[in-house]
Amino acid sequence: MMKNYLELDLPFNFVQDNIALPNFDGAWKFHIVDPQQYLTNAALEFFAANGVPQVSCQFFRGDAGQSSSIHVDGRILNDGNLYVRREWAINIVWGSNSSEMFWYKPKHQDLSGAVGSTGVVHPVYEKEDVDIVDQLKISNQPVLCHIAIPHSVTNYDTVNYRWCMSIRAMDTDLSWPKAYKFFEQYASK
Ligand SMILES: [Fe+2]
Repeated sequence: MMKNYLELDLPFNFVQDNIALPNFDGAWKFHIVDPQQYLTNAALEFFAANGVPQVSCQFFRGDAGQSSSIHVDGRILNDGNLYVRREWAINIVWGSNSSEMFWYKPKHQDLSGAVGSTGVVHPVYEKEDVDIVDQLKISNQPVLCHIAIPHSVTNYDTVNYRWCMSIRAMDTDLSWPKAYKFFEQYASK
């Protein structure tokens, strides 16, 4: 059955060595960074070869022993509608000795929105408003993640930051189910 994540096994590193970590002014904020300065040529070539010539890179810092909000990666527009630019991301995580990602099904649809832990106005849910449908202890493998349904991250490591480079297509026709099917060829067995 299709899950909300797919662990990938690829013979190259996505993130360059010795990158400059952005300055963060709070937990779970994100920074958009230049893919050319942060991704390896192998990663850029991988995306280009798979129909994604332009990627966007978002850098997240999860603070020690903390959880992000339960949110959808979209924006609530002024007219109240939800805008989700793309339904999937490939995340590379390091630094934390133990972290977990959760995906949820909302018990009711509520698009009232809130400012999430990243500062963006997007759908944010309380724990009692959702049921867990998937969860994954994050390893050092890249993970294809569904970001168009409510999800959250917990950094269990009480000492170390959880660094995450999240790579997304600038433009993509691949919905979550299509992306899952497409990237299955790279899934870890
Ligand atoms: Fe997210």
